[in-house]
Amino acid sequence: MRIKNICCIGAGYVGGPTMAVIAQKCPEINVTVVDINEKRIAAWNDQNVKNIPIYEPGLSQIVGEARDRNLYFSTDIDSAIDKADMIFISVNTPTKTYGIGKGMAADLKYIELCARQIARVAKDDKIVVEKSTLPVRTAQALKNILDNTGNGVNYQILSNPEFLAEGTAVEDLMDPDRVLIGGDIDTEEGKEAMQALVDIYSHWVPAERILTTNVWSSELSKLTANAFLAQRVSSINAMSELCEKTGADVNEVAKAVGMDSRIGSKFLKSSVGFGGSCFQKDILNLVYIAKSFGLEEVADYWEQVIIMNDHQKKRFAVNIVKTLFNTVSGKKIAFLGWAFKKDTNDTRESAAIYVADYLLNEQAEIVIYDPKVTEEQVFADLDYLSSRPEEENRKRVTVLNNPYDVCKDSHAVAILTEWDEFEDLDWKAIYNNMLKPAFLFDGRRLLERKKKEEIGFEFYAIGS
Ligand code: NAD
Ligand code: UGA
Repeated sequence: MRIKNICCIGAGYVGGPTMAVIAQKCPEINVTVVDINEKRIAAWNDQNVKNIPIYEPGLSQIVGEARDRNLYFSTDIDSAIDKADMIFISVNTPTKTYGIGKGMAADLKYIELCARQIARVAKDDKIVVEKSTLPVRTAQALKNILDNTGNGVNYQILSNPEFLAEGTAVEDLMDPDRVLIGGDIDTEEGKEAMQALVDIYSHWVPAERILTTNVWSSELSKLTANAFLAQRVSSINAMSELCEKTGADVNEVAKAVGMDSRIGSKFLKSSVGFGGSCFQKDILNLVYIAKSFGLEEVADYWEQVIIMNDHQKKRFAVNIVKTLFNTVSGKKIAFLGWAFKKDTNDTRESAAIYVADYLLNEQAEIVIYDPKVTEEQVFADLDYLSSRPEEENRKRVTVLNNPYDVCKDSHAVAILTEWDEFEDLDWKAIYNNMLKPAFLFDGRRLLERKKKEEIGFEFYAIGS
């Protein structure tokens, strides 16, 4: 089975970059990425490729190369579904905010809408690929909808979870550790569909890195991978608090521990807490699934990863208040960074949002600089929490496009995102323009303590 036309529903952080790479690597396949969000699609089609809606190093070049050759962005979802042999579903699967499973379970309404739309439109056999991260056994529900509301055509459902990390999405897609494809391994049709997807990835991924499994293993492996990664961050963050009490340094501990080849050195960087759209949502979903099978110990074990992360964000904020003589009321706190990590404009669940919210409750004035995040986004993030009237957020929070202006006349500077450019700032000039004592809180272990203390800063860094 040779795939000639692909449709991807969802032009977000996963759908956009993933399809751009498939289109670049498979010039004989037409790839159409569709979305209900007209503004987003217009941005993907912007004449100036620098204005695509997602900032990822290297992405605009790839889009520039493939767009209008074999990569298209459109809001005409029906006709893209109609034409496609293979349909990726890459829509958002946020935590439910209502009803049963509120605050824990994944909200699958967008997935279900896609399934119903495919069933309504499709007039020939299709392979439907789950690209979104989904609870284990979602493929069953998809198949049910497609088979029972469709036009009598055949569907094969594959699970092909995405493992890219934001900020390194292009690298991760070009050179993935593995590609995982789950399908119906017990039937010829299932195996054929899996092979069709294997053939696409084989354009650039070595065969030994393409894993095929049953659908349920594939779905559950994605949740497991994110849970393990987040668990490492919470584990090292738990140690960071102990380091601060004992005189140990968390970076030294992480290095010593990570050199054990059984443990490995990655994902042991202590921080103000993990953010991003997925770790928290996927672990909560895992906890919910475990609970729904009555596995209370399993659920409690994984929930602790989230509890530790919330604690880490809060204690960073509490420490700022305590250090500033137990009050930040009316004091100006400069935030360097708002994105949940460097090299992305994504702010979903960023630790910065929660630290700011805590400090605003303590009546601080916050001034923010992030090289890729807009003022509009900062206010949207704060308003979403509904902690106070929106006008008050606008009164107390200012977003500027220059780090020096942000730090000027501040009582304290806090590093919330590890953007490389923050290391190279003229810290002496920043110090000179701050109120004294000048406090510097490094939530990312980005800066060298000795140099900053020599300048005169009262320096605090996570885990030391
Ligand atoms: P996103 O919010 O950036 O993009 C999802 C897009 O889907 C939105 O643009 C939305 O308008 C669109 N959409 C929703 N319902 C639709 C419908 N019925 N028809 C057409 N378009 C619709 O989300 P994302 O970050 O790309 O994540 C998508 C999925 O991938 C999630 O399940 C997530 O867990 C998973 N994932 C994300 C990442 C990541 O780094 N962001 C990595 C791996 C996996
Ligand atoms: C994460 C996973 O790394 C991806 O494999 C996965 O595909 C993705 O989630 C997803 O399913 O959405 P992402 O959230 O984009 O990717 O970025 P990460 O690099 O994992 O960082 C997540 C958060 O953890 C960030 O806030 C980061 O600053 C923090 N982090 C990461 C640490 O604090 N310390 C570390 O050592 C690593």
